[in-house]
Amino acid sequence: MLAVGTAVIGSLQFGYNTGVINAPQNIIESFYNETWSGRFSEPISKTTLTALWSLSVAIFSVGGMFGSFSVGIFANHFGRRNSMLMANVLAFIAAGFMGSSKLAASFEMLIIGRFIVGLHSGLSTGFVPMYVEEISPTSLRGALGTLHQLGVVVGILMAQVFGIDFIMGNDSLWPLLLGFPLLPAVLQCALLPLCPESPRYLLINCNEESKARSILMKLRGTDEVSEDMQEMKEESQQMMREKKVTIPELFRSPIYRQPIMVAIMLQLSQQLSGINAVFYYSTGIFERAGVSQPVYATIGAGVVNTIFTVVSLFVVEHVGRRPLHLIGLMGMAVSAVFLTAAMALLDQLGWMCYVSMVAVFCFVAFFEIGPGPIPWFIVSELFSQGPRPAAVAVAGFSNWSANFLVGMGFQYVEQLCGPYVFIIFTVLLLGFFVFTYFTVPETKGRTFDEIAAGFRQSAGHGPDKYSAPEDSKSSEQQYLM
Ligand SMILES: *[C@@H]1O[C@H](CO)[C@@H](O)[C@H](O)[C@H]1NC(C)=O
Repeated sequence: MLAVGTAVIGSLQFGYNTGVINAPQNIIESFYNETWSGRFSEPISKTTLTALWSLSVAIFSVGGMFGSFSVGIFANHFGRRNSMLMANVLAFIAAGFMGSSKLAASFEMLIIGRFIVGLHSGLSTGFVPMYVEEISPTSLRGALGTLHQLGVVVGILMAQVFGIDFIMGNDSLWPLLLGFPLLPAVLQCALLPLCPESPRYLLINCNEESKARSILMKLRGTDEVSEDMQEMKEESQQMMREKKVTIPELFRSPIYRQPIMVAIMLQLSQQLSGINAVFYYSTGIFERAGVSQPVYATIGAGVVNTIFTVVSLFVVEHVGRRPLHLIGLMGMAVSAVFLTAAMALLDQLGWMCYVSMVAVFCFVAFFEIGPGPIPWFIVSELFSQGPRPAAVAVAGFSNWSANFLVGMGFQYVEQLCGPYVFIIFTVLLLGFFVFTYFTVPETKGRTFDEIAAGFRQSAGHGPDKYSAPEDSKSSEQQYLM
């Protein structure tokens, strides 16, 4: 519990920094304006302000992208626990930059801080699930693994609550709001030395069998750990049997090309659904939708998000991935239509503001049912050990890129389209629905071979041909070259 709880502080940090710039947008924008006037003796133009704010929001994802790419290097070189410990240096620096930007009258510092905290988040979202999975007993692996996701949504909610004006979302305290990640970082640094290193890392990466065994005995509270040890050894042998696939090979090989396309599209469907338009900008959206207390509506969205994350944790284990993803995408598309209609009709009908609010809540709820959790599930289920690290890296890259696109572009597109901005997400969502319907296979409870055979069939090869051993061997050699 201590080890998992300590690790999950990293997930909390990711969620917090995703949600934190939402509520205080207006306040920090006027800080940008004042700073600008102080320097250039003229108020900031609207275009410059939009550009600077969008950059402050979205540069987080650029950091995230670099961070997620470096996960493997750090985790395999320094170990899981020490990597998490080291990553906190980034949290300290970022909190320092963002927390003192007002004092230094420098929005550049805030933007740099957002980039660094993005790096930290990209690393954390890799380290935490890895560490938690590797220290958990098999029977609890699924349940404890979901704590990462829960940590993220609770982090978002926390940031939204702290952003209320009489807590920290005001003119004088917003630097504390942005500098808050310092506290969880200190807490994690204090607790991590008490947590064990991952036994799987010690055994497989360092070949330290006796250390791994003694840590396992401590973790399981029993001396009888030979079964766990055996399982890890088998896994390591399996890993050695299966050659590691590089990213270019992933795209060149006919076996992987289609699954990797599916993985990329699913990641895009998660981010281009518009969910982060809500998590980054919902307070402004609610304001324009005529909601009188937009910050509280934003918190409402955070609560709905948390509740439905918990709901989906139970549902995902029992229902197939495909139907959940399809339901989620369609539900989001319908909610976006309602939101658009409500925003367009606001001038004629005042009560439309409530419709907007409910529509955003449904949008978030449907996200957590499907497009939130499913894309990550499917990536690890589509690929076996050999190609998985490369596939996860590609998926992470697509995810953070699309995240950046939405964070950076949303305000511009909104200025262009006004209340009709969510129609774009509706069109995208429907496109992803069609794509999922026709190309995404069910992965729950199926082996890699079965899934691969399915892809083969849809690519026009007969299933018989695929199942012939010589054929699969020859195609394997093809991609090894
Ligand atoms: C910046 O501040 C000035 C003076 O307070 C104000 O008139 C102007 O509207 C502000 N600019 C923006 C883009 O908010």
